[in-house]
Amino acid sequence: MSGNPYQDDRGNKDRSIANPRGSGTAEGARRKGKAVAAPGGPFLIGDSMTGGYGKGPNILHDCTIAVDQGEIAVIVGPNGAGKSTAMKAVFGMLDVRQGHVRLDGEDITTLSPQDRVSKGMGFVPQTSNIFTSMTVQENLEMGAFIRTDDFSDTMAQVYDLFPILKDKRNQPAGELSGGQRQQVAVGRALMTRPKVLMLDEPTAGVSPIVMDELFDRIIEVARTGIPILMVEQNARQALEIADKGYVLVQGRNAFSGTGKDLLADPEVRKSFLGG
Ligand SMILES: Nc1ncnc2c1ncn2[C@@H]1O[C@H](COP(=O)(O)OP(=O)(O)OP(=O)(O)O)[C@@H](O)[C@H]1O
Ligand SMILES: [Mg+2]
Repeated sequence: MSGNPYQDDRGNKDRSIANPRGSGTAEGARRKGKAVAAPGGPFLIGDSMTGGYGKGPNILHDCTIAVDQGEIAVIVGPNGAGKSTAMKAVFGMLDVRQGHVRLDGEDITTLSPQDRVSKGMGFVPQTSNIFTSMTVQENLEMGAFIRTDDFSDTMAQVYDLFPILKDKRNQPAGELSGGQRQQVAVGRALMTRPKVLMLDEPTAGVSPIVMDELFDRIIEVARTGIPILMVEQNARQALEIADKGYVLVQGRNAFSGTGKDLLADPEVRKSFLGG
């Protein structure tokens, strides 16, 4: 795929951005283990989702992922486990045959991705998440394209968060390093002032140092009050910063709990964290 810095593109062509209106609240019905349907449940939940691509077989089987206000929730699991599929299901890019997606208590299962964006969902997909031939600044502007108000403050905030992007604002995004491109992708999503941010492998293909840096920035974003639901292949490091974690295997919830619980669970350690 020319101009695409990412390999292994499985057809995720999301270009969406958000334009949230105000910010939501969620009554914190916190539970151990699997989150279940309830009014006033988690701020964003894909609840007991079963579904697959097009008319294909089910990839997700009764799969639940959720994030609450003030939280970082992390999804881990082996390659092909359905992590990206679960994220796409929550974002409306999959045929969810059973189960529901709720945002701030509202059932949004049948909404298009575009409509979810205007409800306040920001999504950074695993692949093709920037416009490589556009400059960094143009990428951020694209992120704001459905905003009708002045977004210069938001852009200044993104540049504060990722100063390197300000230095490189006039460079084509495709010329940036992997870590910097991920910053562009996250920055683009932030331009919409989302109420919740979904990140699919934000540290894919970067060095450990850059990974640490990206995690620090993600924590910073979370501290500004944006709950974050993210997939991570760096399971141990991600669970260390996770309020809530999910281990998916073959499209099902295998384990869930606090990041701390999962890190301490002997079975999770043995099977998914290298002992
Ligand atoms: N666009 C698609 N159409 C059909 N099947 C797909 C599509 N994308 C993924 N799949 C299949 O769905 C299953 C789960 O894939 P998915 O990409 O969700 O896994 P993942 O956990 O994100 O893996 P990775 O760690 O490699 O990113 C795999 O069997 C994959 O082949
Ligand atoms: Mg994936």
